[in-house]
Parts: sequence; C-alpha cells; structure tokens
Amino acid sequence: MDTSDAQSDLVEVLFTEQQIHERLAEMAAEIEKDYQGKDLLIVGILKGAVMVMADLARSLTRHVEMDWMAISSYGSGTKSSGVVRILKDLDADISGRHVLIVDEIIDTGLTLSWLTSNLSSRGPASVAIATLLRKPEALTMPVEAKYVGWDIPNEFVVGYGLDYRERYRNLRDIGTLAPHVYS
Ligand code: IMP
Ligand code: MG
Repeated sequence: MDTSDAQSDLVEVLFTEQQIHERLAEMAAEIEKDYQGKDLLIVGILKGAVMVMADLARSLTRHVEMDWMAISSYGSGTKSSGVVRILKDLDADISGRHVLIVDEIIDTGLTLSWLTSNLSSRGPASVAIATLLRKPEALTMPVEAKYVGWDIPNEFVVGYGLDYRERYRNLRDIGTLAPHVYS
C-alpha cells in the first residue's frame, strides 16, 4: 500500500476548500430562490458528487430530499469510454417531482446528457442540473446546466470527490496532478 501524501501530488491548486464552500453557498441561495414553494429532490451521482452533495445540501436551509445514482461512463483512466450504464438506480419514484441532479464535473457531457433524458422519461415535474465544474471545450453532447460553480480549461483535475484511478477524492482542494503521477 502506498502511504505517501496525496496533496503533495498536486502541481497547482485551482480551488481551495474555502472557495468551494463559498461558491456552493451562492449556488444554494439561487436554488432556494428558484424552487421556492416546490418540493425538491436532489440526486447525487456517485461517487464523485459525494462532497458536493454533502456541502451543497448543508448550505440549503429548506426541506430537501437526497437520493443517489451510480453510473459508469469512464474507465479507470482519464478518457471517457462512451458507454453509460446504471450501476445503482434511484430509490425514489420521481414522477411529478422536481429533480435536481448534482454532479461534480461536466466533461464531454455524455453522462449527464444520457441521464437527463433517462430521468425525464420517468415523468418528473422538472429535471435540472447543478455541477461544481464544467469544461466547455470538452463538451460534445448538448447539456444545459442550470447551476455551474466554475468553467475550467480542458485539463484533468482531482480532489473534492474527483479521482484519478479512485485516488485523490479525499483532498479538500481541487487541483491538477503532477505529470509524474501519470507515468
Ligand atoms: P462526461 O460524461 O465526459 O461529462 O464525464 C463525466 C464524468 O467523468 C465525471 O462525473 C467524472 O467522474 C469524470 N471526469 C471528467 N473529467 C474529469 C476530471 O478532470 N477529473 C476527474 N474526473 C473527471
Ligand atoms: Mg462522476
């Protein structure tokens, strides 16, 4: 087992824990305004969205229900495989409900474009997306995110739920990996 320090593999910190918390609080305020008087179900996409869900949900003061889905669209590296599969479906029946998908990053958009149409076919009152990060240059599928933390350049990032080969999810900040990690 490699017991070396994960944070020291970052070459650059893009967003600190504090910046992330501040941005999520702003997004939560927008969500509360937009969904005022409406029932709201937030759906976190495992495993990457765990940290975003935890902090976004706690920035909401209104009632909200949380559910989870697990979807595979990626291999173990840094490139999308193009295949989407449901590994864990929702517990909740979403017909007639307002659903907000919460994810950590939109890269090609393949996962969320597929998921949006999948959930839309279940008769919800609405389906929208909140994502902490988005890479506009990488987008190949049309995905409308209602709430976006930040747009970032097309480079691979880790931390705060984002992984490289299942590691670095536990970092509090988001940053880019040193090249020696890939080789
Ligand atoms: P998409 O379907 O190409 O939009 O990819 C979505 C998924 O790919 C995300 O939910 C992440 O799990 C993963 N992903 C995309 N870009 C990155 C990155 O820069 N770092 C870590 N994971 C990423
Ligand atoms: Mg993910």
